[in-house]
Order: sequence, then C-alpha cells, then structure tokens
Amino acid sequence: MQDKEPFLETLRAIVGAPNVLTEGDLSAWELDWRKREHGKALAVVRPASTSEVARVVQACAAAGVSLVPQGGNTGMVVGSTPDASGTQVVLSLTRMNRIRTMDAANLTVTVEAGCVLQNLQEACEKEGFLFPLSLAAEGSCTIGGNLATNAGGTQVVRYGNTRELCLGLEVVTAAGEVWNGLSGLRKDNTGYDLRHLFIGSEGTLGVITAATLKMYPLPKSMLTAFASVPSLEAAVELLGLAQQQLHAGLTGFEVMGQFALSLVRKHFPQQNVPFEGDDAFCVVLEVSDHASEAHARGLLENLLEEALQDGCVLDAVVAENISQARALWHIRESIPLAQAQEGLNIKHDISVAVSNIPDFVRETDAQIAQAFPGARMVNYGHLGDGNLHYNVQAPEGSDAEAFLRDQEKPINAIVYAQVERFQGSISAEHGIGTLKREKLAQHKSPVALGLMRAIKLALDPNNTMNPSALFLP
Ligand code: FAD
Ligand code: MLT
Ligand code: ZN
Repeated sequence: MQDKEPFLETLRAIVGAPNVLTEGDLSAWELDWRKREHGKALAVVRPASTSEVARVVQACAAAGVSLVPQGGNTGMVVGSTPDASGTQVVLSLTRMNRIRTMDAANLTVTVEAGCVLQNLQEACEKEGFLFPLSLAAEGSCTIGGNLATNAGGTQVVRYGNTRELCLGLEVVTAAGEVWNGLSGLRKDNTGYDLRHLFIGSEGTLGVITAATLKMYPLPKSMLTAFASVPSLEAAVELLGLAQQQLHAGLTGFEVMGQFALSLVRKHFPQQNVPFEGDDAFCVVLEVSDHASEAHARGLLENLLEEALQDGCVLDAVVAENISQARALWHIRESIPLAQAQEGLNIKHDISVAVSNIPDFVRETDAQIAQAFPGARMVNYGHLGDGNLHYNVQAPEGSDAEAFLRDQEKPINAIVYAQVERFQGSISAEHGIGTLKREKLAQHKSPVALGLMRAIKLALDPNNTMNPSALFLP
C-alpha cells in the first residue's frame, strides 16, 4: 500500500482513533507468547462491537489488506501475530468482552469473543454454574481464541474440548457479513453445521464475535489428589481404575514427568511439590461429585487404596481444602511457565491412543537420547485424553537458541515419525498456526488437505483472513 493514511483514517472512523494503534511498542500484539517470532503490524485495531468488526473487515477487504484476529495472544503456534511484512492488520477482540445473556433453564451462556476465560468461569460460578473449560492461560486467553483453536485443557476427560462446549456462534465472514448462529439448541439437523467449520479454524475463515456455550450445574464437591506412580504404564492403569470407579466423576487426569516437576521446583521454589525423588511420574487427578464432600472423599480414598495395593500408585496426597487443591493444580499448571523460564524449548503437542502413550515415550526418549546426548525431555500433559506435551529442552548449560536453530528439525522428525508410527496427531490441542504449517502438509492426507483448501477458498476467496496460518503459501 503506497499511502496508508486514507486506509488508517477509514479504520479510525469506524473504531475511534485511540483504537487504531500504529506507533510505539506494539510487542504485546506483535510478539507471540513463546517469543518465537516478532512480526510487524500495519495497525492494531480494537473494535468494540460486532458491527464495528464487520465494518473493519469490509474496509480491509476493499483495500486488499489481510487480517489476523487476536484474543489473548497466548497461542502456542505463532498463529495470532502478524508476519514481518508490515502489511497485516491485527484485529484485537479484547474490547468485546461482555457476557450478553445467561439462560439458567437452558444451561447456556452467550458471551462475546474477547471475554477472558477466567471472567466467564467466575461469572458462571457466581450463578451456581460451571463453565468447565480450564487451562493455565485462563487469566488471559479469550473465548474467541479458545474457539478458534478448539482449546483442550485439563477437563477434557469429562467435558470435551471447546468444540463440545459450543452450541452456537456469531461470526463476521471474510466478506464482512454477520452470520448470527447464536443458537442455544442442543438439536438442530438443518444441513451443514457451520459452527464446526469456524471452531478450530484459527481465524482463517472468519472472525468469531460471540458464542453460546454450555454450562453445567456446579458440583457439590471437587477433590484433588496428587499421586506418584512408578511408570507411565502404572499411570495408564490408574486412569483405567479411576474411570471404572468414578465414571463421569473423573474430571481431571494429568501426568507429569519428574524432570518437568524439577523445573517447577527450580524456578518456583515457593511451590511445595510433593514426592521429591526418583519416582518416574506424578499424576494429578480430580473427582467431582454431586452428592457430598464425604461421598467424594470416600470414592477417592477407595480408589487410591486399591491403586496402592495394586502397586500402580506409590504414594498419594489428597487436598484437604480448596486452597490445597488449587496449590496442587498450580504445580501442574506452572510447568509451561517453568519451562519458559528455563529457556527456549522445542514443544510438541501430540496425541496417540492412551494405551500407546508408554511405548511412545519409551521409544522416542531412547531415540532422542541417542541422537542428541544431554537433551532434556520434559513430559507432561493430559493423559486422560492421550495428549502429551512431549517437549525437549537444550542440554544443561548449552546455548538454547543454537540448539533450537540446529536441532529442532531433526528432533521434530523423530517425534513426528513416532506420531505416524502410532497413528497419532501432530497437534492435539494447540493448532497449526504458522509454526506447524510444514508439518501439516507432510502429515495430513492429500485428500484431507484438498478438502480443507476447498473450504478456505469458498469462505475466504481472497485469502485475507489470517493468510499465514494453517497452509503453506
Ligand atoms: P490467541 O493466541 O490470540 O489466538 C489463537 C488463534 O485463534 C490465532 O490463530 C488467532 O488468529 C485465532 N483467533 C483468536 N481470536 C479469534 C476470534 N475471535 N475469531 C477468529 N479467530 C480468532 N491450549 C490448550 O488447548 N490447552 C491447554 O492446556 C493450554 N494451556 C496453556 C497454558 C499456557 C501457560 C499458555 C500460555 C497457553 C496454553 N494453551 C493451551 C494455548 C492457548 O492458551 C490456547 O490456544 C487459547 O485457546 C488461545 O486463546 P487466545 O485468546 O490467547 O488466542
Ligand atoms: C499445557 O497443557 O500446560 C499447555 O497446553 C501448555 C503447554 O503445552 O505448554
Ligand atoms: Zn496442554
């Protein structure tokens, strides 16, 4: 664009001059959470309503300018920041943060895309309901970002991914039209279910401006246990026992390797991480119960007793109160932050069948240890969903930047070959963004890729919606 001023003036007329940012430090919008890429935006635009979003999208379409929708910018795959060209508009949804309506009888809440997840959880809880999506970034990620990435988190084992929590969407299309699909219906078989196209589309098909989401009755009691287990096989056995005994009462089942926990001990020494020692893995598990706390405690204690007798649990603590439960969960949630403190790292977000997790880890660890002596494997994740963050940190004391530059490709090649061997996914919950585009092209079938491109072409024929994400140019 030769002269940007008339275009910027149009944007200012739509959202107000203070909400079109072009000067100063824009790194909050231009730099991704993992600090992997620092892009350059033509402008950061902050609309306050759906009609403002629609007008901004129309203005961009008319000027041939592409848009990168952005929520909390907590994504893990460099998908919410602009490229380095200085030609893309970052469309930040954070001013659209209202909870529009709550329907107690229908168990639904309608919320704007820029609402921070934790604010929605708290608003639901105040009315006696649970909005179960939960992840460590919940204090800053937004509902729009959660939907656009189909975020997972720590409650998927019971409530499913964000997709399963969504009944309806409001979307501004690439042409700047508003699709009001804010249905609270649980049954509606009237042709293609369009909401599912936009969920998980990472901003490449349209801008999500609001959603109608499911709520659940707040359980009477939620109990958390932290257990040490001798192996991943034992963790899988414990998961089976927990599912048999607790059924839908099992609402969280996370696994953490000892090295991951040692990073929490090192970088957050104020946290009291139980079971310092050589036990291979620890598990956080959560029971939710609609009868009473005594009932929940009985169920959990029976489970742990049987598991201790079986030998699949070595030791366990059960939180006595909410603050202890929070502290145990906080240990698990601090792992990505502890890893970031330790330095740049190679992240993987893989899924395989739960039953294959132990073999996946044993074989992959062995291959990486042999090829890259000293590389440190940071294993943790959502074992209940077969989803592991199989991350690799540079050898202690080495140059992490150089390690990433030189070894990320060969390490990825090992990990993703293993994912193929176990018929898994190269991205279970974080999405593709720009970071995994090449991997998507290599690991998705040509037929699936062809269908995806056809959908993209139909919904965004001029390729202005987050054009750098998902597909290679
Ligand atoms: P952003 O990062 O701003 O955007 C993510 C993608 O969505 C981008 O492609 C963007 O263009 C698109 N997008 C954003 N808003 C919209 C919109 N309104 N319309 C259309 N497209 C949009 N993820 C998990 O799945 N599970 C976890 O357990 C988890 N834990 C995390 C823990 C930490 C400490 C951190 C930092 C991240 C974690 N994440 C996790 C990743 C991240 O938080 C999620 O992907 C989250 O859903 C992103 O929300 P956001 O608002 O920050 O989106
Ligand atoms: C998590 O489960 O903690 C997240 O998905 C974040 C991460 O993998 O770093
Ligand atoms: Zn995760």
